[in-house]
Amino acid sequence: MNLACEDEIAPKTVINKRPFQRTTCVCHGESYSENSPAQRGGEERLDRDVQRHNEVPAAHQISKASIHVDETAYRCIAVMDRWRGRVALVTGASVGIGAAVAKELVRCGMKVVGCARNVDKIQELAAECKKAGYTGVLVPIKCDLTKEDDILAMFATIKQQHKGVDVLINNAGLAHPDPLLSGKTSGWRNMLDVNVLALSICAREAYQSMKERNVDDGHIINLNSVAGHVVHPISGAHFYAGTKHTVTALTEGLRQELHEAKSHIRATSISPGFVETEFADRYLQDKNLAQQMLSQQKNLTAGDIAETVVYVLGAPPHVQIGELLIRPVEQQM
Ligand SMILES: NC(=O)c1ccc[n+]([C@@H]2O[C@H](COP(=O)([O-])OP(=O)(O)OC[C@H]3O[C@@H](n4cnc5c(N)ncnc54)[C@H](OP(=O)(O)O)[C@@H]3O)[C@@H](O)[C@H]2O)c1
Repeated sequence: MNLACEDEIAPKTVINKRPFQRTTCVCHGESYSENSPAQRGGEERLDRDVQRHNEVPAAHQISKASIHVDETAYRCIAVMDRWRGRVALVTGASVGIGAAVAKELVRCGMKVVGCARNVDKIQELAAECKKAGYTGVLVPIKCDLTKEDDILAMFATIKQQHKGVDVLINNAGLAHPDPLLSGKTSGWRNMLDVNVLALSICAREAYQSMKERNVDDGHIINLNSVAGHVVHPISGAHFYAGTKHTVTALTEGLRQELHEAKSHIRATSISPGFVETEFADRYLQDKNLAQQMLSQQKNLTAGDIAETVVYVLGAPPHVQIGELLIRPVEQQM
């Protein structure tokens, strides 16, 4: 939806004249008035508000087609309304997809706990969000996801300081180029620890946190991969593909157990193709080679995946997106 202000006042700005206040988009730093159509969200309400609004003198009238709202901002406000002030845990929030997701959720007004080993980077991101005037907040926590004690301590801290987790974004993940016939066990173990075990421990702890607070509308989103559905003929990526195929099975298993428990908590797997992040650098341990690999096509950005997360979270509560595969148009595999 692209709504434009008749007065041609700044784009990315929602204009409401009496009886509404004129405010800027919550996603860009300021709050809407209580009466603003966008805050309450929804096409139907917007129609009604425009109608009510137009009861004021002709010079102040607006039409729906003539309100200007940044498209992303509108979606963020309308569909993310029910998540404002709620707690999301994003694992691997120091760089890449996790950092972009954390930032987007803070922009949408959520209280985001971001964890990683490089906690200083999350602290920088938190300062950036604050400076931008986002309505949510980013709380950094240091956590090495290969250590169960670290994970449990993090959940205990979240319980103590923020009551618990309503949304879990299981994002942290990595690949080591260790083929099945010659790879190092340490590389396989690290992939299993982060991509599979930490993801499962976090899902269990998040569910228990929701259950003890009677939160029945929570959401667990697992960052999977196209490699969770296809085995590419790249020997160094076979074990990684094994861990991501496991994520496919675990997400569906989670959905089934939640259903069995008569819960309305949702489980989603998001499976991206190539995304421009540090992932390839870390995998290849060679920045130039990683750049060469990524330069062969126009890749997805971390922001594209953050928008996907908002789309999945923003779906109406009775809608469960189980799997979402997202590739760059130019990706062959
Ligand atoms: N980039 C792609 O092309 C692509 C494609 C498909 C799927 N994915 C998936 O998307 C997710 C995010 O990947 P990305 O591209 O954003 O990768 P990235 O840029 O390499 O970031 C990985 C994140 O995981 C964290 N992490 C790794 N090991 C950790 C540990 N032991 N403890 C805590 N945090 C740890 C890192 O934080 P610290 O190093 O600070 O701890 C970092 O924040 C992964 O699950 C990946 O498999 C990526």
